[in-house]
Amino acid sequence: MENSSKNLFEKFTYSSLIVKGQRQALEPGFVPDRLPHREKEADQLAEIISPSLKNFKPSNVIIFGKPGVGKTSVVKYVESEVSKAIQSRLDVKIKLIDVNCGVVDNPYGVLLAVGDGLLETWEEKLPFTGWPLDKLYATVLEKVRSFAGIVIIVLDEIDKLVKKSGDSVLYQLLRINEVTNEGRVSILGISNDLRFTEYLDPRVKSRLIEETMVYNPYNASQIYDILRDRSLYAGIADSIDDSAMKTCAALAAQEHGDARRAIDMLRIAVELTEKGSEKRIVDDTIYEAKKKLEKDVVVETVSTLPLHSKLVLFAISLIDEIKSGGISTMGEFYDLYEKISDRMGVGSLTQRRVADIIGELTNLGLIDSKVQSFGRYGRTTTVSLNYSSAKIKDILLSDEILAQLKDVKPTQKSLLVS
Ligand SMILES: Nc1ncnc2c1ncn2[C@@H]1O[C@H](COP(=O)(O)OP(=O)(O)O)[C@@H](O)[C@H]1O
Ligand SMILES: [Mg+2]
Repeated sequence: MENSSKNLFEKFTYSSLIVKGQRQALEPGFVPDRLPHREKEADQLAEIISPSLKNFKPSNVIIFGKPGVGKTSVVKYVESEVSKAIQSRLDVKIKLIDVNCGVVDNPYGVLLAVGDGLLETWEEKLPFTGWPLDKLYATVLEKVRSFAGIVIIVLDEIDKLVKKSGDSVLYQLLRINEVTNEGRVSILGISNDLRFTEYLDPRVKSRLIEETMVYNPYNASQIYDILRDRSLYAGIADSIDDSAMKTCAALAAQEHGDARRAIDMLRIAVELTEKGSEKRIVDDTIYEAKKKLEKDVVVETVSTLPLHSKLVLFAISLIDEIKSGGISTMGEFYDLYEKISDRMGVGSLTQRRVADIIGELTNLGLIDSKVQSFGRYGRTTTVSLNYSSAKIKDILLSDEILAQLKDVKPTQKSLLVS
């Protein structure tokens, strides 16, 4: 072979755009030690938590805000400042316990995390499963008592916990303060969903929500500052055109002011530049990165849906195609969904279940849906796709099982499956 002396990996050794900085600064898990445009929020939260430094129980607080507006970062930052503040002080007893309810979304898991968080170093961890809940609760209560200080439980993505498992575990945690005076428990909840409190029992709601904070989406110039700062951490500030940075910020601001999206775009732009011929990140690199990111997210979301959600989405895409981007009603897409299920040889779900699926697809951002009232003629659900039907169909049909729907073409008149 002509090129036999070349190593297989040679063509993959890209030039590195990041020379002096740290690549992790662009990775999702990176926690910066400064948060531009969230100084006020950090201050406010510190004030709410500050009684704990005098051994008083701070108010329970819930932070609301859309994804990517810095909620988790602010809390992590304040937590680390608390730890620093009490480092050499023997007169205060504060325990901070982090629970990510995106992962731990059931009562057992939450109680376990709290119990484990209160273990003395020599104690064995509590059992991962198997204990009755009341035994686990009694153990947690005992641990709070013997700690005899302030326990701040941070429930990140608390909305997911409540939606998945209800509010019983919150009720139990809040009740600790009524059962004992020896240790005190405060809850700091973080929610992406502004309306999650609607799911709470009034008794839980009134106790849980003593203070609330709402973090607004960032605007373009704020995201620009965040990006600039991050590119300094990463050491790429000199390799990115200012106009590219502005474009990146503007695009992310359009998507509900999400700093995570902006940083993701920047990271992909760095990767694209290192693989390509350009030496710098320019406007076009950002546009390309945006495309790539969108594709990845949508592909991931759609391809991991359960079968019937895929079939419902397929029906909606077909109607969208016929109406070239129009809205479809429950009557229309349910009909088509039934026919498609038939053809696949799987039984179809009831309209009620399909309505649940519509809710889930809406939450995932794949479709928009509304319940429209037609006066005395009743109400119906209308939906529209948030992405092009061609794109959605492409992803769906690449599924092994759905591939048999490749030749399904709805006809204009009857929406019949041929
Ligand atoms: N004010 C800020 N300054 C610097 N980086 C930020 C800021 N706000 C958010 N980020 C970054 O954006 C990403 C998402 O922030 P995060 O706190 O996880 O948002 P949320 O918890 O609201 O979804 C993280 O990478 C974080 O470092
Ligand atoms: Mg978060």
